[in-house]
Amino acid sequence: MQSNYRNYNTWFRLTHWLLALGIVFISLTIFLRLNWMNKDVMSTILQTELAKIDIVIEKDASIKIAKKIRNEMWKWHVYAGYFLVFVFLLRLLMASIGKMIFLNPFQDGLTMKQKFQAWVYLSFYFLMFISLLTGLLIEFGPDYLHETMETIHKLSLYYLISFIVLHFGGLLIAEKVEKQSLVSKMIASKE
Ligand code: HEM
Ligand code: HEM
Repeated sequence: MQSNYRNYNTWFRLTHWLLALGIVFISLTIFLRLNWMNKDVMSTILQTELAKIDIVIEKDASIKIAKKIRNEMWKWHVYAGYFLVFVFLLRLLMASIGKMIFLNPFQDGLTMKQKFQAWVYLSFYFLMFISLLTGLLIEFGPDYLHETMETIHKLSLYYLISFIVLHFGGLLIAEKVEKQSLVSKMIASKE
């Protein structure tokens, strides 16, 4: 018995897909901010294009406009953040009423692989909790905490990428090497 020690019930699948949707969406906003909608990239385009019609603007002014444009997109990072707060609370609620257990790495009889999986998921939820908390404190916390919260919050990128690589790598191995059909179970499972 490998991964079937877990019950892929409706609640598990629903919560998982809401979580996946939220994470994919929030990752998209981060990707846009760091790449195509990066303030420096946009400010250079603004300066270059305006120069073509003989309008010269200072770097500071072009950065200011670029940030205004970026903020329209960035609102959606914050909305996705609220959505993830809701999904996180739903996950906790499901655990507290016994509908969805958290895998416990200390449970007896687990294989090394199952222990590793349990650690990866627990670490993910813990780090996600830090992202949500620091995100909320950036928005609603006191000014003196702002900079520290921002510094911690921005580190979220690293675990996010690491988790996605591990999760998809693990699923690929389960599917192709161990022939576990996890993906179809996650889409349509019999209770
Ligand atoms: C970036 C998007 C995704 C995120 C953030 C994510 C996150 C997670 C998390 C946190 C768990 C542990 C669930 C828990 O104990 O509460 C999990 C389990 C699982 N995920 Fe995903 N997931 C994503 C995408 C996917 C995709 C595309 C599939 C493929 C259909 C998938 C298949 C699974 C399966 C089969 C499990 C259970 C594995 C096991 O038995 O341990 N996930 N996922
Ligand atoms: C799992 C959830 C979250 C993840 C993974 C995440 C990730 C990130 C990352 C990587 C950045 C930095 C982007 C950069 O380098 O420029 C960022 C910035 C930011 N996040 Fe989140 N975030 C999450 C949830 C939230 C929530 C819940 C809120 C607020 C309600 C929030 C508000 C913000 C704000 C305001 C910034 C901009 C900070 C600045 O201007 O420097 N985030 N987030």
